[in-house]
Amino acid sequence: MSEYFRVRQSQVQFFKTVPLYYQSNDGEFILYKKTGKELGSERTDQTRYPQLYFDGRDKEKALKELTKGLNIEFAKQVAEGGLVQIKKALGNIVREALTPGQASVMLALPETIDILFKNLDRDHSTMDYLSKISSASDMVIEHTVNVTALTLQYCFRMGLPDKEASNLALCALLHDVGTSTLDASLLETKKRLTDKQFKQYQAHSEAGHDMIILNSDFNIAVANVALEHHERLDKSGYPNGTNILCRESQLIGFIDCYEALTYHEKAFRKAKKPFDTLKLIKNEVIAGKFSPRIFKEFTSCLIR
Ligand SMILES: [Fe+2]
Ligand SMILES: [Fe+2]
Repeated sequence: MSEYFRVRQSQVQFFKTVPLYYQSNDGEFILYKKTGKELGSERTDQTRYPQLYFDGRDKEKALKELTKGLNIEFAKQVAEGGLVQIKKALGNIVREALTPGQASVMLALPETIDILFKNLDRDHSTMDYLSKISSASDMVIEHTVNVTALTLQYCFRMGLPDKEASNLALCALLHDVGTSTLDASLLETKKRLTDKQFKQYQAHSEAGHDMIILNSDFNIAVANVALEHHERLDKSGYPNGTNILCRESQLIGFIDCYEALTYHEKAFRKAKKPFDTLKLIKNEVIAGKFSPRIFKEFTSCLIR
């Protein structure tokens, strides 16, 4: 028997050619929209549908249509320039990429970055604001979007070539993709993790690396960053306690830590002032965990 997957109400219109189903009272899946038939606007404008599903056998095609739709939506928001909406649309894409069993959505992320590059004002304050807007989204999604915005801010300020900058942005978007393999309760808890829970949480580095290697032909740095972003130069990190890290991992690991410190009060998601965070992170640099060069460069990008 085939497996059926729920379609989010807000995303029904993205499933252009894939057939959709609803569930009858006795649990049977009944065709709602035929293959290739688009939902007319009178149907997509409806505010109430039955809960719709797609057939697992159409999964590959369905996810392709979904990510394409999300990217089009994202491009529209980027063109219109409202930062709150841009952040929301990017968050929607990250949410799908972090949904268990949907690792193939990763393949559409380079296009997402392309959209950003082609349309976005590179004035560093845009990225600065984008990272500061607090959204109602889940913590991992907001964190991922913030890390990506801060990474781009660094790249633009440092004047890195587009190819390098887009690769770093992809590294940032996917650095925590392995969290999609974790139990949701581990990510949502506001309490301090127990030792046992922390061990489970740490598995996201290797899981992310394995997903990226398996599912794509991205630059090897993208997989390395997923594996190494919690490693530290004083060998105090995980999973391997190594100080042999690629340049990209050192940068994203630093920005990852900066973002987490900035939004330290997880329950309130209230941003600390960058200066206060930089003071905290400077202690980590002095302790030998991060590269002093990256600290200097990143600081100068923030205050310029
Ligand atoms: Fe992480
Ligand atoms: Fe992270």
